[in-house]
Amino acid sequence: MSTLGIIGSGNIGAAVARLAVAADIDVVIANSRGPESLTDLVDELGPHARAGTVEEAAHAGEVVVLSIPATAYSTLPDGLLGGRTVLDTGNYYPSRDGRIPELDSGQYNQTQLNQTHLPDAALVKAFNNILAHHIPQLARLSGAPDRSTLPIASDDPDALAVAADLIDRLGFDILDAGSVSETWRFEPESAAYTQIYLADPTVPLKTYTSAPAAPVSKDTLRAALASATPVDVAGRTY
Ligand SMILES: NC(=O)c1ccc[n+]([C@@H]2O[C@H](COP(=O)([O-])OP(=O)(O)OC[C@H]3O[C@@H](n4cnc5c(N)ncnc54)[C@H](OP(=O)(O)O)[C@@H]3O)[C@@H](O)[C@H]2O)c1
Repeated sequence: MSTLGIIGSGNIGAAVARLAVAADIDVVIANSRGPESLTDLVDELGPHARAGTVEEAAHAGEVVVLSIPATAYSTLPDGLLGGRTVLDTGNYYPSRDGRIPELDSGQYNQTQLNQTHLPDAALVKAFNNILAHHIPQLARLSGAPDRSTLPIASDDPDALAVAADLIDRLGFDILDAGSVSETWRFEPESAAYTQIYLADPTVPLKTYTSAPAAPVSKDTLRAALASATPVDVAGRTY
Protein backbone atom coordinates (compact mmCIF):
# COMPACT_ATOMS: atom_id res chain seq x y z
CA MET A 1 0.00 0.00 0.00
CA SER A 2 1.45 3.35 -1.00
CA THR A 3 -1.24 5.85 -0.02
CA LEU A 4 -3.57 5.85 2.97
CA GLY A 5 -6.75 7.89 3.05
CA ILE A 6 -7.80 9.24 6.43
CA ILE A 7 -11.27 10.72 6.98
CA GLY A 8 -11.34 12.51 10.32
CA SER A 9 -8.37 14.59 11.39
CA GLY A 10 -9.06 14.73 15.12
CA ASN A 11 -7.35 12.93 17.98
CA ILE A 12 -7.24 9.47 16.39
CA GLY A 13 -7.04 10.45 12.71
CA ALA A 14 -4.08 12.75 13.35
CA ALA A 15 -2.34 10.18 15.58
CA VAL A 16 -2.62 7.51 12.86
CA ALA A 17 -1.45 10.01 10.24
CA ARG A 18 1.70 10.71 12.30
CA LEU A 19 2.49 6.99 12.44
CA ALA A 20 1.83 6.61 8.70
CA VAL A 21 4.19 9.36 7.57
CA ALA A 22 6.83 8.05 9.99
CA ALA A 23 6.47 4.70 8.18
CA ASP A 24 6.95 6.40 4.76
CA ILE A 25 3.29 5.95 3.83
CA ASP A 26 1.70 8.81 1.88
CA VAL A 27 -1.43 10.20 3.48
CA VAL A 28 -4.42 12.12 2.17
CA ILE A 29 -6.34 13.43 5.17
CA ALA A 30 -9.77 15.06 5.28
CA ASN A 31 -12.20 16.46 7.80
CA SER A 32 -15.65 18.03 7.72
CA ARG A 33 -14.41 21.61 7.26
CA GLY A 34 -12.33 21.15 4.14
CA PRO A 35 -8.64 21.02 3.22
CA GLU A 36 -7.93 24.67 4.05
CA SER A 37 -8.53 23.92 7.72
CA LEU A 38 -5.78 21.28 7.70
CA THR A 39 -2.82 23.48 6.80
CA ASP A 40 -1.15 23.31 10.20
CA LEU A 41 -1.56 19.53 10.47
CA VAL A 42 -0.18 18.75 7.00
CA ASP A 43 2.70 21.18 7.60
CA GLU A 44 3.51 19.23 10.74
CA LEU A 45 3.14 15.87 8.96
CA GLY A 46 5.53 16.89 6.20
CA PRO A 47 5.99 15.85 2.57
CA HIS A 48 4.24 12.48 2.87
CA ALA A 49 0.93 14.20 3.69
CA ARG A 50 -1.57 16.35 1.91
CA ALA A 51 -5.01 17.61 2.82
CA GLY A 52 -7.94 16.66 0.65
CA THR A 53 -11.68 16.61 0.47
CA VAL A 54 -13.53 13.65 1.96
CA GLU A 55 -13.88 12.26 -1.59
CA GLU A 56 -10.15 12.67 -2.27
CA ALA A 57 -9.24 10.87 0.94
CA ALA A 58 -11.74 8.11 0.14
CA HIS A 59 -10.24 7.59 -3.31
CA ALA A 60 -6.56 8.08 -2.45
CA GLY A 61 -5.88 4.37 -2.17
CA GLU A 62 -7.36 0.99 -1.34
CA VAL A 63 -7.36 1.59 2.42
CA VAL A 64 -9.08 4.32 4.39
CA VAL A 65 -9.02 5.08 8.10
CA LEU A 66 -12.44 6.40 9.11
CA SER A 67 -12.28 8.26 12.40
CA ILE A 68 -15.42 10.33 12.84
CA PRO A 69 -18.23 10.62 15.43
CA ALA A 70 -21.03 8.03 15.34
CA THR A 71 -23.54 10.54 14.00
CA ALA A 72 -21.40 11.40 10.97
CA TYR A 73 -21.52 7.99 9.24
CA SER A 74 -25.03 8.56 7.92
CA THR A 75 -23.96 11.88 6.40
CA LEU A 76 -21.24 10.38 4.18
CA PRO A 77 -22.14 10.33 0.47
CA ASP A 78 -23.66 7.07 -0.81
CA GLY A 79 -21.02 4.76 -2.28
CA LEU A 80 -18.14 6.91 -0.97
CA LEU A 81 -16.16 3.95 0.38
CA GLY A 82 -17.35 1.25 -2.00
CA GLY A 83 -14.70 -1.42 -2.54
CA ARG A 84 -12.38 0.05 0.09
CA THR A 85 -10.89 -1.59 3.15
CA VAL A 86 -12.02 0.76 5.92
CA LEU A 87 -10.39 0.81 9.35
CA ASP A 88 -13.27 2.01 11.50
CA THR A 89 -12.16 3.61 14.79
CA GLY A 90 -15.64 4.58 15.95
CA ASN A 91 -17.17 4.23 19.40
CA TYR A 92 -20.59 5.17 20.72
CA TYR A 93 -20.76 7.82 23.41
CA PRO A 94 -24.36 8.95 24.01
CA SER A 95 -23.16 12.15 25.70
CA ARG A 96 -21.54 13.13 22.39
CA ASP A 97 -23.66 11.25 19.84
CA GLY A 98 -27.12 11.36 21.43
CA ARG A 99 -29.06 8.15 21.99
CA ILE A 100 -28.98 5.79 19.01
CA PRO A 101 -31.92 3.36 19.36
CA GLU A 102 -30.36 0.60 17.21
CA LEU A 103 -27.37 0.51 19.57
CA ASP A 104 -29.27 0.94 22.82
CA SER A 105 -31.64 -1.90 21.88
CA GLY A 106 -28.78 -4.25 21.02
CA GLN A 107 -30.07 -4.67 17.46
CA TYR A 108 -26.54 -3.83 16.29
CA ASN A 109 -23.15 -3.18 17.80
CA GLN A 110 -21.54 -0.02 16.52
CA THR A 111 -19.54 -1.63 13.73
CA GLN A 112 -22.60 -3.50 12.48
CA LEU A 113 -24.56 -0.24 12.44
CA ASN A 114 -21.73 1.52 10.60
CA GLN A 115 -21.75 -1.28 8.02
CA THR A 116 -25.41 -0.50 7.29
CA HIS A 117 -24.33 3.05 6.40
CA LEU A 118 -21.40 1.78 4.29
CA PRO A 119 -22.76 -1.38 2.67
CA ASP A 120 -20.12 -1.57 -0.08
CA ALA A 121 -17.09 -1.11 2.20
CA ALA A 122 -15.12 -3.88 3.93
CA LEU A 123 -15.05 -2.66 7.53
CA VAL A 124 -12.32 -3.58 9.97
CA LYS A 125 -12.77 -2.39 13.54
CA ALA A 126 -9.38 -0.97 14.59
CA PHE A 127 -7.78 1.71 16.76
CA ASN A 128 -11.04 2.11 18.69
CA ASN A 129 -9.83 0.61 21.97
CA ILE A 130 -6.77 2.79 22.55
CA LEU A 131 -6.68 6.39 23.76
CA ALA A 132 -5.32 8.75 21.14
CA HIS A 133 -2.43 9.96 23.29
CA HIS A 134 -1.38 6.36 23.99
CA ILE A 135 -0.85 5.67 20.27
CA PRO A 136 2.48 7.53 19.97
CA GLN A 137 3.55 6.32 23.42
CA LEU A 138 3.15 2.65 22.48
CA ALA A 139 4.01 2.44 18.76
CA ARG A 140 7.21 0.46 18.20
CA LEU A 141 9.11 -1.01 15.28
CA SER A 142 8.35 -4.62 14.40
CA GLY A 143 10.15 -7.03 16.69
CA ALA A 144 10.58 -4.63 19.62
CA PRO A 145 10.23 -6.62 22.87
CA ASP A 146 7.83 -4.08 24.36
CA ARG A 147 5.57 -3.80 21.33
CA SER A 148 1.85 -3.50 22.09
CA THR A 149 -1.02 -5.40 20.52
CA LEU A 150 -4.23 -4.01 19.08
CA PRO A 151 -7.36 -6.05 18.38
CA ILE A 152 -8.94 -6.00 14.94
CA ALA A 153 -12.16 -7.63 13.74
CA SER A 154 -13.84 -8.00 10.39
CA ASP A 155 -16.18 -10.24 8.44
CA ASP A 156 -13.90 -9.88 5.40
CA PRO A 157 -10.70 -11.98 5.62
CA ASP A 158 -8.95 -10.07 2.83
CA ALA A 159 -9.66 -6.73 4.50
CA LEU A 160 -8.51 -8.14 7.82
CA ALA A 161 -5.18 -9.16 6.28
CA VAL A 162 -4.71 -5.75 4.66
CA ALA A 163 -5.45 -4.01 7.97
CA ALA A 164 -3.07 -6.31 9.84
CA ASP A 165 -0.23 -5.47 7.44
CA LEU A 166 -0.92 -1.76 7.73
CA ILE A 167 -1.09 -1.75 11.53
CA ASP A 168 2.15 -3.74 11.71
CA ARG A 169 3.82 -1.06 9.57
CA LEU A 170 2.32 1.62 11.82
CA GLY A 171 3.86 0.14 14.96
CA PHE A 172 1.63 -2.47 16.60
CA ASP A 173 1.17 -6.21 16.69
CA ILE A 174 -2.40 -7.27 16.01
CA LEU A 175 -4.73 -9.89 17.39
CA ASP A 176 -7.66 -11.17 15.32
CA ALA A 177 -10.65 -10.64 17.61
CA GLY A 178 -13.06 -12.45 15.32
CA SER A 179 -16.06 -11.29 13.37
CA VAL A 180 -17.78 -7.92 13.59
CA SER A 181 -20.37 -9.52 15.89
CA GLU A 182 -17.56 -9.86 18.48
CA THR A 183 -16.42 -6.22 18.47
CA TRP A 184 -18.35 -5.48 21.68
CA ARG A 185 -15.46 -7.23 23.45
CA PHE A 186 -13.26 -4.18 22.83
CA GLU A 187 -15.84 -1.42 22.78
CA PRO A 188 -16.43 1.03 25.70
CA GLU A 189 -16.75 -0.53 29.17
CA SER A 190 -15.50 -3.90 28.00
CA ALA A 191 -12.45 -5.71 29.40
CA ALA A 192 -10.33 -5.02 26.31
CA TYR A 193 -11.13 -1.31 26.07
CA THR A 194 -8.76 1.60 26.61
CA GLN A 195 -7.95 0.98 30.28
CA ILE A 196 -5.83 -2.04 29.43
CA TYR A 197 -3.18 0.29 27.97
CA LEU A 198 -2.95 2.38 31.14
CA ALA A 199 0.29 2.02 33.07
CA ASP A 200 -1.85 2.27 36.22
CA PRO A 201 -5.30 0.78 35.48
CA THR A 202 -6.63 2.10 38.81
CA VAL A 203 -6.34 5.80 37.89
CA PRO A 204 -9.70 7.62 37.89
CA LEU A 205 -11.54 7.90 34.58
CA LYS A 206 -11.27 11.69 34.61
CA THR A 207 -7.46 11.47 34.50
CA TYR A 208 -7.32 9.02 31.56
CA THR A 209 -6.44 11.74 29.06
CA SER A 210 -3.14 12.47 30.83
CA ALA A 211 -2.35 9.04 32.29
CA PRO A 212 0.70 7.28 30.82
CA ALA A 213 0.52 4.03 28.88
CA ALA A 214 2.24 0.68 29.29
CA PRO A 215 2.71 -2.05 26.67
CA VAL A 216 0.06 -4.75 26.25
CA SER A 217 1.17 -8.16 25.01
CA LYS A 218 -0.82 -10.46 22.77
CA ASP A 219 -1.47 -12.83 25.68
CA THR A 220 -2.78 -10.03 27.90
CA LEU A 221 -5.08 -8.77 25.17
CA ARG A 222 -6.27 -12.28 24.34
CA ALA A 223 -7.17 -12.87 28.00
CA ALA A 224 -9.02 -9.55 28.20
CA LEU A 225 -11.06 -10.32 25.08
CA ALA A 226 -11.93 -13.77 26.42
CA SER A 227 -12.99 -12.39 29.81
CA ALA A 228 -15.21 -9.64 28.37
CA THR A 229 -18.88 -9.77 29.24
CA PRO A 230 -21.62 -7.91 27.35
CA VAL A 231 -22.13 -4.34 28.50
CA ASP A 232 -25.39 -2.47 29.09
CA VAL A 233 -25.19 -0.04 26.17
CA ALA A 234 -28.61 1.43 26.94
CA GLY A 235 -27.40 2.23 30.45
CA ARG A 236 -24.32 4.12 29.26
CA THR A 237 -24.42 7.64 30.65
CA TYR A 238 -21.28 9.17 29.08
N1 LIG B 1 -10.14 10.25 21.23
C1 LIG B 1 -9.82 8.99 21.55
O1 LIG B 1 -8.93 8.76 22.41
C2 LIG B 1 -10.54 7.86 20.87
C3 LIG B 1 -10.07 6.56 21.12
C4 LIG B 1 -10.63 5.50 20.42
C5 LIG B 1 -11.68 5.71 19.54
N2 LIG B 1 -12.15 6.98 19.35
C6 LIG B 1 -13.28 7.14 18.41
O2 LIG B 1 -12.74 7.51 17.13
C7 LIG B 1 -13.62 8.46 16.50
C8 LIG B 1 -12.86 9.76 16.34
O3 LIG B 1 -12.50 10.23 17.63
P1 LIG B 1 -11.60 11.52 17.81
O4 LIG B 1 -11.35 11.65 19.27
O5 LIG B 1 -10.47 11.52 16.86
O6 LIG B 1 -12.66 12.63 17.37
P2 LIG B 1 -12.42 14.17 17.12
O7 LIG B 1 -11.09 14.60 17.66
O8 LIG B 1 -13.64 14.88 17.54
O9 LIG B 1 -12.30 14.24 15.51
C9 LIG B 1 -13.39 13.88 14.71
C10 LIG B 1 -13.03 14.19 13.28
O10 LIG B 1 -14.11 13.77 12.45
C11 LIG B 1 -14.32 14.78 11.49
N3 LIG B 1 -15.67 14.69 10.98
C12 LIG B 1 -16.84 14.83 11.65
N4 LIG B 1 -17.86 14.67 10.81
C13 LIG B 1 -17.33 14.45 9.58
C14 LIG B 1 -17.87 14.23 8.31
N5 LIG B 1 -19.21 14.20 8.10
N6 LIG B 1 -17.03 14.06 7.26
C15 LIG B 1 -15.69 14.09 7.45
N7 LIG B 1 -15.11 14.28 8.64
C16 LIG B 1 -15.93 14.46 9.70
C17 LIG B 1 -14.06 16.06 12.23
O11 LIG B 1 -13.87 17.10 11.31
P3 LIG B 1 -13.72 18.63 11.82
O12 LIG B 1 -12.41 18.68 12.54
O13 LIG B 1 -13.71 19.42 10.55
O14 LIG B 1 -14.89 18.89 12.70
C18 LIG B 1 -12.81 15.68 13.01
O15 LIG B 1 -11.66 15.86 12.22
C19 LIG B 1 -14.83 8.58 17.41
O16 LIG B 1 -15.83 7.69 16.99
C20 LIG B 1 -14.29 8.20 18.77
O17 LIG B 1 -15.30 7.72 19.63
C21 LIG B 1 -11.59 8.05 19.97
